[in-house]
Amino acid sequence: MSAEHQTRTLRGGTPLQGEISVPGDKSISHRALLLGGLGDGVTRVSNLAPGEDVKSTVDVLRELGIQVQGNGEEFKVFGKGLRGYTKPEGSLDAGNSGTLMRLISGILAGQSFESTITGDGSLRSRPMARIIEPLEEMGARIRSEDGRAPLTITGTELTGTTHRPRVASAQVKSCLLLAGIHAEGVTTVVEPGPSRDHTERTLEAMDYPIEVQGSVITVSGPAALEPIDVEVPGDFSSAAFFIAGGLIAGGSHLLIRDVGLNDTRTGFLDLVEKMGAEVEVKDLRMKNGEPRGNLEVQYSQLSGVTLTEDEVVTAIDELPLLGVIATQAEGRTEVRGAEELRVKETDRISAIVNNLESLNASVEELEDGFIIEGPQGLTGGTVDSYQDHRIAMSMAVAAQVADGPTRLNGAEWVEVSFPGFFEQLEELQDG
Ligand code: S3P
Repeated sequence: MSAEHQTRTLRGGTPLQGEISVPGDKSISHRALLLGGLGDGVTRVSNLAPGEDVKSTVDVLRELGIQVQGNGEEFKVFGKGLRGYTKPEGSLDAGNSGTLMRLISGILAGQSFESTITGDGSLRSRPMARIIEPLEEMGARIRSEDGRAPLTITGTELTGTTHRPRVASAQVKSCLLLAGIHAEGVTTVVEPGPSRDHTERTLEAMDYPIEVQGSVITVSGPAALEPIDVEVPGDFSSAAFFIAGGLIAGGSHLLIRDVGLNDTRTGFLDLVEKMGAEVEVKDLRMKNGEPRGNLEVQYSQLSGVTLTEDEVVTAIDELPLLGVIATQAEGRTEVRGAEELRVKETDRISAIVNNLESLNASVEELEDGFIIEGPQGLTGGTVDSYQDHRIAMSMAVAAQVADGPTRLNGAEWVEVSFPGFFEQLEELQDG
């Protein structure tokens, strides 16, 4: 991340009011670009996610000889077919983006050249064996130290294989499907839980013959990808910060326009509804195979919730935020089975527990989650982003109900997914 170190002082105590839109969906943006680059012609993408992660994808594609034009509202990706990427001059830099690194590894494994992909300190510490091992079963040639990036991938002929990943991860599933569309024969992924399915939907939209039967997804080797026009919906995971803020900041009432509502992403919405939240979905519609709609959020009296396994998967990115709102809910909130949070951009379990404790909350940390008894008053204090965009924004939400100012160190990390986040929050505070 290139932005300068930033400390922000956040003040709450006001309702969040007004109408907003959030940036384009990051997961869908990565896929539209990467798959667009494999299409036979020009894929157009509007409302592309503006953060650093998706910029890394644009840069990496360019390094791989794929022309990407545009720098504002509409981007054009000049696809050159399934094996059209060309050898980059230097090593590829995925920055902070696990999605980019894992998805593109599946593609690079089936190309015809050697390349090395690396990332920032956080990404270089994240587990890659979960993609290296199954890719190797397909014949991929990958060198890494210790199952971590940098990965050196020598493109080769791949063979379709059946995979049963142990973790429900859309990044792992997508990596294997992207390798599968380059492989001879049939590649099947049997998912242990319902992870986000944007890769499957994008492949379908590009007329690729993919079969999805419940948790079993099958692709049958090389076939042309038709270029498409994608209008990316607002990112539910970005909207979630305003949903949470609106639910806990007294007197709030807000409308968030045009948010992606794919049900493999909206577990957090189901959870807050279980907690008693008043969130109304309005103008629900389909576009490019993805549902979207407007969300009207009212301040609500919440009660605690215990999560099921599937809820952990479909709300995975919002669980730190759930910790924040659990402090304001009546009764016990229990998150278990969420050990994946420990290998995200940072260890999100310890980050959220430490930060809430810095605001004088009492939280029980578990190896695979946390328990919070509410309601608890939060005081102001000093918290840290832990170089993680979602932790930074979760703490900005906590600051809305803290009694006193909250100093957030490392606030610049919001740039990874949501440039302009603090400004939008301030606008809502001003009503
Ligand atoms: C993502 C998948 C999830 C999620 C991440 C984005 C994707 O990661 O946490 O923010 O776009 O595929 P995992 O696949 O590691 O669960």
